[in-house]
Amino acid sequence: MLTAHDFPSAHVADTSGIDMILVGDSLAMVALGMDDTSEIRLEEMILHCRSVARGAKASFLVGDLPMGSYEVSPEQALESAIKVVKEGRMQAVKLEGGAEMAPAIRKITTAGISVLAHIGLTPQRQNALGGFRVQGKNTTGALKVLRDAVAVQDAGAFGVVLEAVPAEVAALVTRKLRIPTIGIGAGSGCSGQVLVQMDMSGNFPPGRFLPKFVKKFGDVWGEAQRAAEAYRDEVKAGTYPAVEHTYPMPKEEYEEFERRAGQIYQSVLLSCQQAATATLAVYFSHGRESTSCSPPYLDGGSTSPEVARAVPYRKKPQNAPGAICSLTPYVDR
Ligand code: KIV
Repeated sequence: MLTAHDFPSAHVADTSGIDMILVGDSLAMVALGMDDTSEIRLEEMILHCRSVARGAKASFLVGDLPMGSYEVSPEQALESAIKVVKEGRMQAVKLEGGAEMAPAIRKITTAGISVLAHIGLTPQRQNALGGFRVQGKNTTGALKVLRDAVAVQDAGAFGVVLEAVPAEVAALVTRKLRIPTIGIGAGSGCSGQVLVQMDMSGNFPPGRFLPKFVKKFGDVWGEAQRAAEAYRDEVKAGTYPAVEHTYPMPKEEYEEFERRAGQIYQSVLLSCQQAATATLAVYFSHGRESTSCSPPYLDGGSTSPEVARAVPYRKKPQNAPGAICSLTPYVDR
């Protein structure tokens, strides 16, 4: 299992033969720059679920229920799960929590929606857990992980994510269950593994904290940075775009275009001169202090004042004194 947060990352996961794609709420932090996963809303998750669904053809799709969208009641959990399936186009949902979430899991699965549970370290509750802390490190903690796993299995979950628990504990829990365990920071004794794609592909800025369990299989960030810098350099040097990046035009078509463009340019220039001439003529004929100019250049006074106001320059002088057209032609620059 691998996370995807948008169309391209879904496409990558899908075409790489990843069995299951998780639209995890980790996207809040790694893709949307939020401080933690508690900030992301159901509507935002659904938007990302939809783009992932468009990019994946073969992988099984699981969408995370974000904090606040399922804890209030089993009914609320079911409503949110239905949205993730109907609007987000996911095939299952994931939610965080163990025995206390069994009623919600039961409600959702009874309605025909598959649930992947998530126990051990549950990032949505990091404040209550005292941060991102490994869970099940002592006997009591390990027994809680086991009890939670059994509870979510009995409630109908088709699998369970075990996050940040000692490898031995995860392996024992896996042996005790009928459903598969998906480990993240839980060793190789789980039935499967999940990682955040942006972490494992190295798509994050240098210096960002990376949990111990993440292996960097690529350097997507470095590659993107190198590409952006090379683009910047080539644009500044004028070597990009090169001829091969442009669209060809038959020579004779261009020559004809150039000839006709010259004519158009000449007539535009003439209009500009005429407009400037008329404007200056109005200005000089009414004086600098005049605020309400009655229109000049009418047909011997036969035009009504209304028409005159509407069409002030109907008869333009050809060579009014002071006519200057100082437009600098853009095309010549
Ligand atoms: O949100 C997420 O990406 C997850 C995985 C890390 C399991 O919950």
